[in-house]
Amino acid sequence: MRTTTLGTHGPQVGVIGLGAMGMTFAYDMATARDEATSVSVIHQALDLGVTLIDTADVYGPYTNEELVGRALAGHRDRAVIATKAGMECLDPTGGPGGAPLVRPNGRPEHIRAAVDASLRRLGTDHIDLYQLHRVDPEVPLEETWGALAEAVAAGKARHIGLSEVSVQQIQRAQAVHPVTTVQSEFSLWTRDVQAEVLPYCQEHGIGLLPYSPLGRGFLLGRFSSFDELPENDQRRRLPRFQQDNLRANLDIAAQVREVADRVGATPAQVALAWLVAQGEHVVPIPGTKTPGYLADNVGGADIRLSAADLADLDAIPAPVGARY
Ligand SMILES: NC(=O)c1ccc[n+]([C@@H]2O[C@H](COP(=O)([O-])OP(=O)(O)OC[C@H]3O[C@@H](n4cnc5c(N)ncnc54)[C@H](OP(=O)(O)O)[C@@H]3O)[C@@H](O)[C@H]2O)c1
Repeated sequence: MRTTTLGTHGPQVGVIGLGAMGMTFAYDMATARDEATSVSVIHQALDLGVTLIDTADVYGPYTNEELVGRALAGHRDRAVIATKAGMECLDPTGGPGGAPLVRPNGRPEHIRAAVDASLRRLGTDHIDLYQLHRVDPEVPLEETWGALAEAVAAGKARHIGLSEVSVQQIQRAQAVHPVTTVQSEFSLWTRDVQAEVLPYCQEHGIGLLPYSPLGRGFLLGRFSSFDELPENDQRRRLPRFQQDNLRANLDIAAQVREVADRVGATPAQVALAWLVAQGEHVVPIPGTKTPGYLADNVGGADIRLSAADLADLDAIPAPVGARY
């Protein structure tokens, strides 16, 4: 796979990464998971040049990092591990629909304990990219970011990044310690970062990691009705997936399919190629626990969209419904 670096000074990675979240969390939780298949997807990713593996302590909670740790035992040097801290789980089943109840916790003591716990679960002595999952509105960002910087000074993390932040927040963090990456929702139907965050990151050599780059599967035509969403699935609570909105948004998936058919690719490959074309250090992290989907997504790295294809994709209208 083609490679790039995480920002100007970060490690080299394949231009497409892998999000591990759905292997133990968020989607279709009523269906039992097959860990062996998830582990084989991570190994397949490494074999195909997908080196950036994204997880978070709160996914599960905790089970996702444990799974990634087990998958990478004996393969640690082939992967660039990106995990996140800064959310705490108050109740594993106390959230909406029985999901974990979580909230931001950016207190330095929480981050200090979290990094050691992540290292233990991941079975490694260092995290390649340690990310702040959300800014805690009750704790000055400088204090939280300072605790992540301490992890770098202690050799526990090589680089640190932010998630879901404004340019102003990136600047505040940079005044304390360099920001290697920013992770934000970014896809053909979520383009908010194009206004300020993406140009800022490009100008300052910061990598951008688009999360939910496939629109949580919607952009690929996975769902044509609300009822098709599995039980106990986080998407059931998102505004864009509510029945009327979902129906109104079907045309977006149809337009992605149209471009894909024209260029001889799949919708997933087109959705990812469009993101990779947004800048040198833009590395989408599509999530999958399915070997065939992983292979499909990897193919996106080889698709070069023409100016006309990009213009058609740029012209896809905004969706109906907020993203959260
Ligand atoms: N920073 C944050 O706050 C934040 C928030 C959300 C996510 N993330 C990160 O971003 C990663 C990806 O986001 P995401 O999982 O929410 O959304 P996504 O990557 O846009 O979509 C994942 C969904 O698409 C399906 N899929 C993947 N490839 C496919 C293909 N080629 N054909 C058909 N279906 C396909 C997956 O199915 P299967 O799973 O069934 O294979 C899953 O249901 C996560 O794993 C996580 O690491 C970060």
